[in-house]
Amino acid sequence: MPSPTSCPAWRDLEAHRDEIAGERMEELFAADPGRGGSLTFGCAGLQVDFSKQRLTADTLRRLADLARERDLSGAVSRLFAGERVNNTEDRPALHVALRGDERFVAGGEDVQAQVRRCRERMRVFSTAVRDGSWKGATGQRIRHVLALGIGGSYLGPRLAVEALAAMADGPEVRFVANVDPAALDDALRGLDPASTLVVVASKTFTTQETMANAAAARRWLSGALGEAAVARHVVAATANVAEAGRFGIPEANVFPFGDWVGGRYSVWSSVGLPVAIALGMNAFERFLAGAHAVDLEFRSAPPERNVPFLLGAVGVWNRDFLGIPVHVVLPYAQRLASLPGYLQQLEMESNGKRVEAGGEAVHVPTCPALFGEAGTLGQHAFYQWLHQGTDEASGDFIVVARPMGSREADHAVLLANALAQSEALMTGRSTGNPHRDCPGNRPSTTIVLPALEPASLGALVALYEHKVYAQAVLWGVNPFDQFGVELGKAIAGRILPGLAGTADADVHPATRHLIALLRTAAEGGPAR
Ligand code: F6P
Repeated sequence: MPSPTSCPAWRDLEAHRDEIAGERMEELFAADPGRGGSLTFGCAGLQVDFSKQRLTADTLRRLADLARERDLSGAVSRLFAGERVNNTEDRPALHVALRGDERFVAGGEDVQAQVRRCRERMRVFSTAVRDGSWKGATGQRIRHVLALGIGGSYLGPRLAVEALAAMADGPEVRFVANVDPAALDDALRGLDPASTLVVVASKTFTTQETMANAAAARRWLSGALGEAAVARHVVAATANVAEAGRFGIPEANVFPFGDWVGGRYSVWSSVGLPVAIALGMNAFERFLAGAHAVDLEFRSAPPERNVPFLLGAVGVWNRDFLGIPVHVVLPYAQRLASLPGYLQQLEMESNGKRVEAGGEAVHVPTCPALFGEAGTLGQHAFYQWLHQGTDEASGDFIVVARPMGSREADHAVLLANALAQSEALMTGRSTGNPHRDCPGNRPSTTIVLPALEPASLGALVALYEHKVYAQAVLWGVNPFDQFGVELGKAIAGRILPGLAGTADADVHPATRHLIALLRTAAEGGPAR
């Protein structure tokens, strides 16, 4: 496919950017006081307000032209048709099949039957764990779930369990992702092996961190209950049933998903089992339904009104036309505190690419750096930088209309802060004192959820998933591979023997130096 910059719509957008560059957002509001309404779009129950972006309705029309020239609708059709859109790994990315009820085909095979089968097994198993009919090896019911996994096998389920904590009525779920032994030690504290279920989530079932934690958890269980207890206390969510079997998990305890589910898109699969156990399968299915509602819109809405596309297109506008290198995610909901971390993986692992899908160097900057924090915590940390720093950032404010806790008045305080911050970023302040002045004109989108519940959370996550796909189409990259994470893993494999003192490691001199420093420090030697 030709580069994005060779599209007439791209060049047209550049000219348009230059035309409106002199107008501050406040002037755009003054010229069009109704822009709050005209630049807000509904999608699957969410409202997305672009009026505090440095753009006009005309900009969105031109971005829609770009979508047509980049054949977004063809790319969306290929995604939903199960075509091998992940061209470098030669496979489909059919996570939408996990939440839809229509016929989906991957690799010539109708995958809907396997999806339904796995979902039914999740329902039976999660119900049995929740109602106590699934007993541990000593006959006790399960009171805790230890969920092991990393990356997409961790971030999605943790986000959902935390976000929907208000309705959790099943066993308590504790997540461990890091291979740092302290993380597992901390999670195991206070747990009784006889009433703990370990869920090992790993698409490949070979990921070093997860395998180390799974082996340690199995030792913890079998040390207390005997090896035979593993069958009652360990289950797996994986695309590699054979490897889970080699680890010692019987097939009856394996909840499989297809290799056409990308790791960071896997929360909708059996990787969501901890969510189903914590909240019940009905809640998990409402989460899927919320995502499916966004799929329907992404598939059918024209780009002018296609909210996932618009979210992506506005990101491209900020990144490539306004030159903004950083994006912040600001959920004004403590229970969404994990959303920035979730989106870091989703956006940066997907679109942090420097070559196009065909292998040529990209023509434009791709994914911005992304970070964030729950509001109002971020206000007491990095908002100073947002308001007065020398770099610009764009932002997403995520607000929930209905109170999430018991004190309604304090929910209003939370909302007032969210609205104030997006207004302050837009208006800035001019006081005559340079220390107090804020330049303003810093763009943000506000996403409104009516309530924090399974369907709206599913919709929010799917909205971002399709944002990422739409951006990948505009940039021309493959968002479904992540070869960049392999190099470090390979080097770690070479370093480990030297660090463990079992071999003279084949390592770089800079690393050899650090190994020596670490040895000395561990032995309590002089710190220089
Ligand atoms: O970070 C690299 C990655 O491959 C992610 O894409 C994935 O979500 C994570 O590692 C975990 O992989 P797995 O589910 O195979 O353990």
